[in-house]
Formats: sequence, C-alpha cells, structure tokens
Amino acid sequence: MLRKSSGYVSGQQLCEQFQVSRTAVWKAIEQLKEEGYKIEAVRNRGYRLSESPDILSQAEIASRITGIWAGRNVSYLPVVDSTNTQAKHMGEEGAPHGTLVVAEKQQAGKGRRGRVWESPSGRDIYMTLLLRPDLQPAAAPMLTLVMALSLAEALRQETGVDARIKWPNDIVVDGKKLCGILTEMSAEVDYIHYVVIGVGINVNQDVFPEEIRTKATSLFLEKGKEFPRSPLIGAVLERFEVNYALFMESEDLSSLQKAYNDLLVNAGARVQVLEPKGAYTAVSSGINEKGELLVQKDDGTCEAVFAGEVSVRGIYGYV
Ligand code: BTN
Repeated sequence: MLRKSSGYVSGQQLCEQFQVSRTAVWKAIEQLKEEGYKIEAVRNRGYRLSESPDILSQAEIASRITGIWAGRNVSYLPVVDSTNTQAKHMGEEGAPHGTLVVAEKQQAGKGRRGRVWESPSGRDIYMTLLLRPDLQPAAAPMLTLVMALSLAEALRQETGVDARIKWPNDIVVDGKKLCGILTEMSAEVDYIHYVVIGVGINVNQDVFPEEIRTKATSLFLEKGKEFPRSPLIGAVLERFEVNYALFMESEDLSSLQKAYNDLLVNAGARVQVLEPKGAYTAVSSGINEKGELLVQKDDGTCEAVFAGEVSVRGIYGYV
C-alpha cells in the first residue's frame, strides 16, 4: 500500500485494510525500517515510503508485480540449489500457471547444456517462471524466444542499455552476455504438464571470473551505476505477460517476429552455423514465425535453422 500510494497512507487505512491493530501496524513499519526501507511517519497524516533498499523478499517482489497472472504467486528463497529445480518441484505439486521462484543465491545454478551458472549472493537476478501452456510440446522452445524478447524490451526500457538478442535466447550488450535463459519442461509426447523458464540477469556484478571476463557483462558495467533488482523483475514479467498473450493467440511467433528481428544482433550478420554434421558460414536475415533462424549459405541456398540442433556464432567469436 505504501508503494502504490504517492502520498501518505494513514495508520487508520492500514488498520482497516489488514484488519489489525495500530500496534501491529507500527510493528510492521518498524520491521520494514529494519529491512532498510525509509518510511516517514508524520502525526495526523500517516506513513510515506521515501526510499527502498535493493532487497529481494516476498513482499518486495509482490509489490512490483503489475500484471494479472505472471508472478502473482511468488516464492522467494534466500538460498536454493537452482530456481529451475525448485520450480519443477512446485510444478509437480500443482503450483499454478504464472508461479515465480526467485532466489538471492543459487548453490547449483544451471546453464544450458549442463554448464554451471555462477550465482553469488546480493547482486544479480535468478528467477524461474512456471507455465502450464495449452500447447503441443514441440511448440515449447518458442517460449524461450518470447522470454528473450521480453527481457531485451524490459531491460532497454528500464535501464537504457542497448540490450539485443543473440539467437535464440541470449541477451547481449556490445557482444557480451548480459542474461541467460534455461527452459525445461515436463511433458508427454502430446501434452505439456508444465514448462519452467529460468532467467539469470547480471545486474550489479562488478567483476567476472577470469574465464568469462571477455564474454560477460552486467548492467553495472555497462551503465556505470547500480540498479535495484525488484523493479527489473516486475518489468520483465509485465512484458512477458503481454508477449505471451500475443504468442498464444496464434501459437507461433508471427506477431512477435518483427519486434524480435528488430532486436536481433544476428540480423544481416555473417554467422557460423555449427551443425552436428559440420560447420558452414552464412548470412542470417532473422527468424521465421516458428523461431527458426533463416540463413543464406555462400552457395546461395537458403535454410531455416532450428535451435535445438545447431548453434550460431559470429564469424569472429561469440556474436
Ligand atoms: C545459459 O545461458 O546457459 C542459461 C543460464 C540460465 C541461468 C538461470 S539463473 C535462474 C535459473 N536457475 C538456474 O539454475 N538456471 C537459470
């Protein structure tokens, strides 16, 4: 309530809203102050939130959620093995569509293809969104592209960073990786039980391990200042909810294709396509409505490349 109101909220309003005593309201305000919130209390006017710390908590994240379903049910954990693993447990136990799992620290953060996602405490975002889409399992990989677009749009809008998409689902700035996405699902051949989309965003990291220093970046390194994390979480989910609705109308990316291609770092670029059979160079033009990358080989023939089978690199490196 304090966050949603631009002015003061009276003690009376808080008592009525939560059906508690004045003392209980006072205690809750004291607790928020201990967590680092700056709250002004003025006699006869009430309370006003003047500053928020960069903390992640159930209440902090919930107060940033603006949509109808994405993130309406939030589970915040200070430490977890992996938010994806946790979201899958919750999926097995019947957690609803749109459940969001956020952790301050992951002890076994997972990257794609069995890689490790380093997940130290206090600086970055580790979150997973659980979905129960009425889709064929073969369509699920497109959800990763919906998330990639939502991330690029939200981070551009909130921070002004020139976030772009490296097909299919990395977010890069100036050739360095800013976010990663790991999508997993539980399905029968013709029925999806649930999909979990895990997102790691490098927010306030100021130094990366030697091995990835030339390939990774953070919002802090790009913009030279720290960003509070919960507004970013809110913005990503807001964009995802809009883009997901467009995707589900046609069950393909036709209505998101233009927005995606406009932010695609590989569009019009010379790329190296790494297929299990061998590698070749080509020029890519963008994705089609199925999320496949359209490339023109040097012999003039065109191909639609499917993300599960190949990866694409710039001819001089990662992008
Ligand atoms: C990649 O680019 O390799 C994907 C990285 C995905 C990392 C996120 S962090 C939150 C979620 N939980 C995990 O264990 N992994 C994803």
